[in-house]
Amino acid sequence: MKNFIAPSILSANFAELGKEVNDVILAGADIIHFDVMDNHYVPNLTVGPLVCKSLINFGVKKPIDVHLMTTPVDDLITQFCDAGASMISFHPEATQHVDRSIELIKSKNCKAGIALNPASPLSLLDHILDKIDFILIMSVNPGYGGQKFIDNSLDKIKKCKEMIDNSGCNVEIEVDGGIGIKNIKTIHDAGANIFVAGSAIFNTENYEEAISKMKQEISA
Ligand code: DX5
Ligand code: ZN
Repeated sequence: MKNFIAPSILSANFAELGKEVNDVILAGADIIHFDVMDNHYVPNLTVGPLVCKSLINFGVKKPIDVHLMTTPVDDLITQFCDAGASMISFHPEATQHVDRSIELIKSKNCKAGIALNPASPLSLLDHILDKIDFILIMSVNPGYGGQKFIDNSLDKIKKCKEMIDNSGCNVEIEVDGGIGIKNIKTIHDAGANIFVAGSAIFNTENYEEAISKMKQEISA
C-alpha cells in the first residue's frame, strides 16, 4: 500500500495557518491532518469547518483529513464535507448510530474512517469493516499534541492489519500520536500506511528534513 505522511495542524502556528500548511505541503506532506476538538469529548478546543474552508480557499489542494474528537458528530460531518474535507474520521463512542454516521460521510463522497482510542477494542469494527475506507488507531489519548507513543499500540496495529487482510476488505490504517523519525518504521512494519505527525514536524526548524527522513525510514 502507498504510504502517506499527514502532518497534524495541532502543532502548527495557528496565527499563520495557511502558510504553515503550504510549507508542509512544499516539504512533502501528502495529507493535511485536521484535529477537531470540542472541549467536551476531549479536554481541549480547536477549530471548525470555517477554518477548513479557509484553507481550501487559500489554495490548499492536498486532501484534508478531518479527525473529529467531538460528540455528537453528524452535524459536523455535514459541515466539514460541505467545507471541502476529503476524509473524515470519528470515534464510535461519540455517536449514537455509527453505521448512520459512516453512511452520512460516504453520501457526501468523502472517505470514512473510524478512530479508536488506546483502550477501544478492535471489536468495535465488527459489522462495519466493509463500509469504511480507513481506521485511525490512536497511539495516544486524544486531546493534545506532543504526547508519548503508547507502545502496546503496535500490537493493536498488527491485529488490525490481520483482521483487514482476513476480511478481504480494502481498508487503510492510519496511526495518530507520538510518531517521529525514531519509531515510524516499526509502526509501518506493524501494518500502518498513513502516519500522522504533529510535533515531530511542526516543532522542528526544517519541515522538509523531518518529512524526508520519515519517508526514508519507511521505504528502507
Ligand atoms: C491528538 C491528535 C493528534 C496529535 C498528534 O488528539 O489527534 O493528531 O496532534 O500530535 P503528535 O504527533 O505531536 O503526537
Ligand atoms: Zn488526530
